[in-house]
This record gives sequence, C-alpha cells and structure tokens, in this order.
Amino acid sequence: MTSTESKSILNVLGVGSSMRQISYSTTALKIILEKVGGKDAETNLLDLQKTRLPMLYSQEDDTEEIVRVTELVKWADAFVLATPDYHGSMSGSLKNFLDYFWSDFAGKTFGYIVASHEKGLTVMDQMRTAVRQCYGWSMPYGISINPEVDFNDKRELIGTKISSRLDMLARDLVVYGKLIREQFLNDLHRSSLVNTFAGYYRK
Ligand SMILES: Cc1cc2nc3c(=O)[nH]c(=O)nc-3n(C[C@H](O)[C@H](O)[C@H](O)COP(=O)(O)O)c2cc1C
Repeated sequence: MTSTESKSILNVLGVGSSMRQISYSTTALKIILEKVGGKDAETNLLDLQKTRLPMLYSQEDDTEEIVRVTELVKWADAFVLATPDYHGSMSGSLKNFLDYFWSDFAGKTFGYIVASHEKGLTVMDQMRTAVRQCYGWSMPYGISINPEVDFNDKRELIGTKISSRLDMLARDLVVYGKLIREQFLNDLHRSSLVNTFAGYYRK
C-alpha cells in the first residue's frame, strides 16, 4: 500500500442490537443502510437478534457466529450502531459486541441510532465513550428515533425531519468515513512517519 492510496468504496457495517423480533432501532438501521448503499459504499447488516454472539469469554472455542462476525468487522471501514435505550444505556448485546471486537475499531468511523422515548442522549454518549476507548472515530451527532412519533401503525417511518436526518447521516458517514479511513491506512503504511496514532497499529 502507498501513501496515496484512496478508498473509492467504503464498507459500512450496520449493527442492530435489539432482541425484539420487530425492532424500531433495527428498522431505522435498515433504512439508513439503504441510503448509504446509494453512495460510494457497500453495506452489510449484522442483526444480533439473528446472529447470536455468546457472552464474551463464555465459550472455549469460537462459534460459527463469532467467526462470521469477526469477518464482517474486519471487512468494515465504518459502522452504524443501532440500539434501544435501556435505562439510559445501550443494550447488553451491543456492549457485548463492542467488548468482542474493540481491537478492530481504530481508524474507523461510527454513526449512531437510538430508539428512545427520551432522546437517548446518554445512550449516545455511552456508545461514543466505548468507541473512543477503542480508538474509533464518532460522528458528532446521532439519530434519535422516538417510535411513537416517528413511525406509523404499519411501522413505517413518517416525517420529513427524521428522514432528512437519516439522509444527512448516510451522506456524512460515507464522506467523513472515507477521509478518516484513507488517512489512517496511509499513516499506518508510512513507516517513516512515527508520530501518529496509526503507528501503534503497525505489525
Ligand atoms: C429494560 C428496558 C429498559 C428501558 N429503558 C428505557 C429508558 O430508560 N428510556 C426510554 O426512553 N425507553 C426505555 N425503554 C424502552 C425502549 O427503549 C423502547 O421501547 C425502544 O423503542 C425499543 O427499541 P427496539 O424497538 O429497537 O427494541 C426500555 C425498555 C426496556 C425493555
């Protein structure tokens, strides 16, 4: 890889973490992945309701699910994390996902979706804190979904404001995600340049 490498396509992994069969946060996540897919990006959905990760350190050997999710995480250049608001924090399944894969987040950008009746600001903060601890980059705003206001009885998203915010995040995640990923990879492979945090990730 050279210092002029550029990423023409950004790989974006959406992580849905509600265990409910029909989830507002995962529905919103699917909508944003569709929007992201229309830009210079490829997308994948990891729905933790369907792909069950065991609790960290609860298995002696990697399960099929762990192997599959590891591949997806390594493939991803950027993430959208979606969670319900559980007592002002993220879901346990999302925290477990972050605990598993923290070492693959450096130089990658994260966007956030929370389903909450109360805006979910502390939830957003806690996801940002965990991602920062893992040297990931966070988008400076997130999307808060209030199910009673933003969805109709058929569970379709309503309202131009929320739709516009999802458009904005889809656009910004791809644009900023590419810049950050490119710079990180270039710094990573420019061994003469020592004083950059990417240098800590050289093998
Ligand atoms: C254990 C638990 C704790 C919750 N805590 C909150 C909360 O603190 N604030 C809030 O607005 N909603 C809270 N909720 C409601 C969920 O965040 C809300 O129903 C959300 O839309 C569920 O997202 P989902 O449809 O993606 O599963 C809680 C729900 C559960 C089951």
